[in-house]
Amino acid sequence: MQHFKRAVSQNLKLPTGGPIGWLVKELIFMRTNDVVEVQTAKLLNIQPHHRVLEVGFGPGVGLKEALGYIGKDGPGKVYGLELSPQMVHVATKRLQPYIASGQLQLTLGDVMKLPYPDNSMDGIFHVNCFYFWDDLHQGCRELYRVLSPGGSVATAMNRTVVEKSVERGLNSYARHTDPQEYMKALEKAGFVGFREEEIGEGKNKMYGYTASKEGKDSSP
Ligand SMILES: C[S@@+](CC[C@H](N)C(=O)[O-])C[C@H]1O[C@@H](n2cnc3c(N)ncnc32)[C@H](O)[C@@H]1O
Repeated sequence: MQHFKRAVSQNLKLPTGGPIGWLVKELIFMRTNDVVEVQTAKLLNIQPHHRVLEVGFGPGVGLKEALGYIGKDGPGKVYGLELSPQMVHVATKRLQPYIASGQLQLTLGDVMKLPYPDNSMDGIFHVNCFYFWDDLHQGCRELYRVLSPGGSVATAMNRTVVEKSVERGLNSYARHTDPQEYMKALEKAGFVGFREEEIGEGKNKMYGYTASKEGKDSSP
C-alpha cells in the first residue's frame, strides 16, 4: 500500500508514466481534474488575439480548452510549459494538429525559470500545480515577469479533493496547498486586483483565484 501511495504521489508531482502513472493520468488528470482545467481557462476570459500560457499542463486538457477560445483563425497562440518529459510526450501526441498549425507551442521546463521574454503573455493559468513548486515566491515572480501589463493569472482548486488526497497519503509531495499562501506570494511579486470566487456547479463546485498585473492591456 505504501508503495502504491508513493507512486501516486510521485505521479501527481512529476508524472513518470508506468502502470500507476497511466492510472493517474486517466482517472485523475483526464476524469477528475478536467473540470478544474475547463473552469480555470474560463476565468481568464481568453480572446482570439491573446497569447496564453499554461504551466504544468499534464495531458493538455486546459491547453485544448484555451485553444478553443483562440479559435482556428485567431492571431493568438497558446503556450504550455511542463516539468515532466512524460507529460510533454503525452500532450504532444494528443494535440499534434494544433502544434503543426503553429497555434500551440509546448516546452519542457520549470516555472522557476520561464523560457519566455518579459511581458510576453496576456494570460497565464495553472491547475493543481503551485503547491509543488520548489519556491512559491520565485514561481510567482516569474509569472509576473512574463505577463504583460493588464494581463491576468488564474487558477482554480477543488480544495476538498486536494485536501483528501493529502490526508490519505496519495499526494504527499504537495506543500503549501493553502491558496491564501499562494495569493500572498502573488501580492509580494507585484500582482494586484485579487479575486476569489465560487465557480462550477454541484459536486464540481470549486474556488477560482485571479489576479492581474497593473497597466493597460497593450495587445492588439
Ligand atoms: C497534479 S499534476 C496536474 C496536471 C494538470 N494541470 C491537471 O490538473 O490535471 C501537476 C503537474 O505540474 C507539473 N509541474 C510540477 N512542478 C512544476 C514546475 N516547477 N514547473 C512546471 N511544471 C510543473 C507536473 O509535471 C505535473 O504534470
